[in-house]
Amino acid sequence: MCGIVGYIGHREAYPIVLKGLQRLEYRGYDSAGIVLYDDEKEEIKLTKTKGKVADLKAKLEDEINTAGTIGLGHTRWATHGVPNDVNSHPHFSNSGDLVIIHNGIIENYESLKKELIKRGYSFTSDTDTEVLINLIEDVKKKEDVKLGKAVQIALNQTVGAYAIAVFDKNKPNEIVVARLGSPLAIGVGEDEYFIASDASPFIEFTNNAIYLEDGEMAVVRRKKGVSVRQIKDDKLVDPYIQELQLNLEQIEKGGFEHFMLKEIYEQPSAITDTYRGRLLVDEGVIRMAGIDDNLERFTNAKRIIIVACGTSWHAGLVAEYIFEDLARIPVEVEYASEFRYRNPVITSEDVVIAISQSGETADTMAAIKLAKEKGAFVFGVCNVVGSSISRETHAGAYTHAGPEIGVASTKAFTTQITVLTLIALKLAKAKGTISKTDFHMHLSELETIPQKIEVALLSNDHIKEVADKYKEARNCLYLGRGYNFPVALEGALKLKEISYIHAEGYPAAEMKHGPIALIDEDMPVVVIATRKGHYEKVVSNIQEIKSRQGKIIGIVTEGDTSVRDLADYVIEVPDTIESLTPLLTTIPLQLLSYHIAVMLGKNVDQPRNLAKSVTVE
Ligand code: F6R
Repeated sequence: MCGIVGYIGHREAYPIVLKGLQRLEYRGYDSAGIVLYDDEKEEIKLTKTKGKVADLKAKLEDEINTAGTIGLGHTRWATHGVPNDVNSHPHFSNSGDLVIIHNGIIENYESLKKELIKRGYSFTSDTDTEVLINLIEDVKKKEDVKLGKAVQIALNQTVGAYAIAVFDKNKPNEIVVARLGSPLAIGVGEDEYFIASDASPFIEFTNNAIYLEDGEMAVVRRKKGVSVRQIKDDKLVDPYIQELQLNLEQIEKGGFEHFMLKEIYEQPSAITDTYRGRLLVDEGVIRMAGIDDNLERFTNAKRIIIVACGTSWHAGLVAEYIFEDLARIPVEVEYASEFRYRNPVITSEDVVIAISQSGETADTMAAIKLAKEKGAFVFGVCNVVGSSISRETHAGAYTHAGPEIGVASTKAFTTQITVLTLIALKLAKAKGTISKTDFHMHLSELETIPQKIEVALLSNDHIKEVADKYKEARNCLYLGRGYNFPVALEGALKLKEISYIHAEGYPAAEMKHGPIALIDEDMPVVVIATRKGHYEKVVSNIQEIKSRQGKIIGIVTEGDTSVRDLADYVIEVPDTIESLTPLLTTIPLQLLSYHIAVMLGKNVDQPRNLAKSVTVE
């Protein structure tokens, strides 16, 4: 949460930092700020405001002077202190010499603040960040050290998480950065450097980046390059410059009104990218290095524990069905936030699979550390290459979905399911729990899924009509059984997070045990009723809702007639085998939420109170 961006070089910093903030806004958007250093006038200038980057831009457009070749910017998701102008970053130290941007939380800020107040420091904001910058200033003065050293000493007194960039106006040729628990990338250009929470702010300037490891800091000098060291051990580190695969097109809207819609439509190509080089249908082989290299860990596992949050947790629930069904391995799916705090029983015979789009989710990260401590083998399924979780796990598989910028997860979900399906099939084959014919049938069917999603997307206009009909609903139920129960949960999550309509997902058969009391003529009920998967039972459940005047939107297999006769609306998806239906039934649910939210005038890509990567507990 929070996006940080910085520039030091020979270009005007302002447009780079501003654009960078726009690209990082998915990380938080309740306030934003920019500080610029005007080299000619030797002046430092801060502008910050509550609201979005667009509000900051409007404020800055009134400014005559946005000159300067050094700049730092921040887009905030509030943790300490309400979102207002004062709590917005960047923050100055008391002397006005030092300035900081920070993504993370300094947990012991209160005790540090008390000490600093005793030493004569005063504070204007409620933030932990203002405490940190004054601690750095205090150390710098007390110890009479350079900025880099002061940052290092100060950070060694803190508890918590951070990605920071610090600038001293008396030393205008360097920026000091550091990270622990929050991501930080340094774009390396020619006599110019870019600092950012991810590489998107600098992708049009350079393909070379250094990703700081947890516990590392760097002094970034305009002409003299980057020197990296470990914060705790003070050891110099040889920085590894990585070549990025990202391109500008991937992080722009490409003609779509919103990132979410673009990402929904990207699913056919994203899934193809996920299985490319892994799914070899003609050879009857699935190739995945992370599994091949650790096959025995998986086949000998007494059970698989899946840890994740939100949408990734829903992907984990789908995986539970497929792992148990095909590979006959017992699976438990855990909310990472609960798992880490409840002294779970984990043994060295367990395999833990951590699923995360961002690869930065704090609770998932903590669950991984706990599982590793207890001796389990931990496998990561992440989208963001080089992310913290992908580095912390013993092995893993990327989803290769490409950047997901809309805050509501779409293509991350379907590509996670694709990777998990490949793993389950691979293990089933290795364990001999699937017949040759069945294995081959799964492989060929999985290969057709992108095409079938293209077909499902053709219902977009019809889904818009359904959205228009139900956009005023106050509540909505989503029902599914078996493989499609997690899809019902995911459909409900999509609706609530972007349209703010209360929605719940249930296993269809659970209706009778309570939720059916909610049904009346004002309640839309979305029922996933595909032909493969307890169809007759679900049709009976639909009848029960119908008798109580509930409004039924059926997600059905092409050509279905039984549900059509009962439902108010049906949305068709192509036929497939049961285990792969989630990859198709999810599509109309994503589109339905999207259109309802657009019709209600909500900010689809940046829903209130949310942020894309949840780097705080
Ligand atoms: C919902 C959504 C969130 C994330 C959750 C986990 O649309 O995006 O629920 O799925 O915050 O994030 P990752 O997958 O990055 O660990």
